[in-house]
Order: sequence, then C-alpha cells, then structure tokens
Amino acid sequence: MKEVIIGGVGNYIPSKIVTNAQLSEFVDTDDEWIYSRTGIKSRYISEGEDTSYMASKASIKAIQDANLSPLDVDLIVLATCTPDMFTPSTACIVQNLIGAKNAVAFDISAACTGFIYGLEVAKSLMICNDYKHALVIGSENLSKSVDWDDRSTCVLFGDGAGAAILSKSDEKGIVSSFSKSEGDKWQCITIEGNNIDSPFVENKTIRNSKLKMNGNEVFKFATSTIVNSINKILDDNNLSLDDIDYIIPHQANIRIIDYAAKKLKVSIDKFYINIEEYGNTSAASIPLALCEMNEKKILKKGQKIILVGFGAGLTYGATLINW
Ligand code: ACO
Repeated sequence: MKEVIIGGVGNYIPSKIVTNAQLSEFVDTDDEWIYSRTGIKSRYISEGEDTSYMASKASIKAIQDANLSPLDVDLIVLATCTPDMFTPSTACIVQNLIGAKNAVAFDISAACTGFIYGLEVAKSLMICNDYKHALVIGSENLSKSVDWDDRSTCVLFGDGAGAAILSKSDEKGIVSSFSKSEGDKWQCITIEGNNIDSPFVENKTIRNSKLKMNGNEVFKFATSTIVNSINKILDDNNLSLDDIDYIIPHQANIRIIDYAAKKLKVSIDKFYINIEEYGNTSAASIPLALCEMNEKKILKKGQKIILVGFGAGLTYGATLINW
C-alpha cells in the first residue's frame, strides 16, 4: 500500500462561547467593527483546558471515527503555536493522555499552516517508515497567548482542536500537497519565548510572550497567498476549479476568503466558512472545519477538496484530498 487516506476525523471545542458584545465589555471595540472587518461573531474560549487536553479529546474522536484503537497509532504529529510547554512536546503529552503507546510523537510549529504542514510530514514519514496509521492534530489555546488589552488582535482568535487519522491504503486520499515558508517576514506575527538573561549575558534580550501581529502586512500576504496556493495545487494536478467540490481555507478573516473567491472568479459557496462562530483558531481551523463538514454529512466519497493555509513564519501551503 503506497497511498494515504484520511480514515477518521475528530474535534474538541471548549464549551464557553464569547460574543463580540462580551468582548466590548472590557476592550474598546464593538460587534459592528469586528463583524464587518473580520466576519467573526463569537469564538470558543478555554476555561482552563490546555492545548494537549483539547488535542487528546479531538484525537480520541478521530481514532473512534476510524474504527481504530490508540494502540494502532504509529505516529502523532501535532501542529500548534500555543504548546503546553517548550518541552516536552505537546504531542508526547497527548500520546500519554490517549494511551498511544506505540507511536512516535512530535510537534510542528507552522502556526495557521500547521495542519497543512502536518499532513505533508505525516504522509512522507508513513511512506518512508512504513507506518500504517498516523494522527495529525491542530490544537490551539490562543486565549492564553493573546494580549487581552490589544483590541487589534484579541478579538480575532479562538480556541479548539481538530484531528485526522491518516491510514495507508491502495486508494489515493491525500493526492498532492506543498508547503512553503518566507522566513524574511517572521516579524509579522510573533509569540516570543524566554528572555535571554543569564549571569553571562551583558545585553539582555527581553521578549514578549503575547501574540503580536502586523495585521495589514499579513492581510496583503494572505490575499495573494491564498489565490496563488489554490492555483498552484490546481496546476500541479492538471485540474480546474470546476473539478473541485470544496475549498477549506484557513479561517482568518472573511474578507480574505471573499477576495479569493472574486479573484478566482468562483462562487463563495465553494469555500467552507465557519469563522463567524469560531474566529481564527490557527492550526485547528482547517481540521475543525473538516470535522464539522463530516458531521454535517456535507462530505461525500470521491469529492475533491482543497485545504489551504497561511500564517506566522510566514508560512503557507495547500493539500488536495480525494475524500
Ligand atoms: N475594534 C475597534 N477598532 C479597532 C479594532 C477593534 N477590535 N482593532 C483595530 N481597530 C482600529 C484601529 O486602531 C484603526 O484605527 P485608526 O484608523 O484610528 O488607527 C482602525 O481600526 C483600522 O485598523 P486596521 O488594522 O487597519 O484594520 P483592518 O481593516 O486592516 O483589519 C485585521 C485588521 C482584521 C487584523 C486585518 O488586517 C486582518 O485580518 N489581517 C490578517 C490576519 C491574518 O490573516 N492572520 C493569519 C495568521 S494568524 C497566525 O498565524 C497565528
């Protein structure tokens, strides 16, 4: 078996819903601004569940959806920009939480493109190392990393996790993918790490552990990248948009998706959009959408779907799936 399919999907969303009106009680904003500039009405916010906890809940659901046991999982790739800790990896914590004793587990840091990177890395390793089943997770607890005094960012993000089981198959499920990085633009979105401050350092580096974003720069990057990425994956596979049933874009801003639909001259209905309810959940946004579509029975066997992501790094990429 030389191919890889998606055999199951799962999600976890915190039970606490925070509306735009609730945010406007403690930050200088209002529903009109947030909704008209982003398309967001609400987001789910963790009440203490960390990234690993949400990831483990989504993973168990995906494993059950694939009719597998945690012991069948050979590989865990977890994409996040809000890990529980610097070390160990959140993937190792999830491995323990779900009892996936036979897996190798590690994290990927590619922010909102993390799930796309994760699918590519997992598929490549499955083919090279003869792994039968892999768990690819996007999980984020962004509410612990946003600056709740910064109205330009705190209104955008939400928490949650989505997971997919990849399984070796004779069928072509993950048909094609690509991932790219533009490290020269790393300063556009940051969540910095520890200060560099030891007895041996003369000039300390003081770092900010809260999310900072140059929204306008990222907006320009995102609009061109989403269009170019969709066109690239179509060209790579000799397909046109007519051959595609759905596009699942990273849910960052409805205006980015609107722009892509207009530029590609395709109906907005081809894009699956749930940003209104979830906000931007970074690496979790694409698998959350995939799982929601599966639960709503929107996905049908044989459909062709493009997943497309962009985010901090800056990073971007796309995946073509045969469902
Ligand atoms: N409420 C009210 N006013 C606000 C708010 C708010 N929440 N936030 C900003 N404003 C004000 C600003 O202060 C500014 O006021 P001024 O004109 O008096 O200076 C005005 O609104 C306009 O601000 P802009 O930043 O120009 O607003 P814009 O329309 O560009 O929207 C946004 C900002 C939503 C962040 C947009 O730039 C965007 O979506 N960028 C892309 C984000 C993205 O795609 N991120 C993806 C990756 S995230 C990751 O990887 C973790």
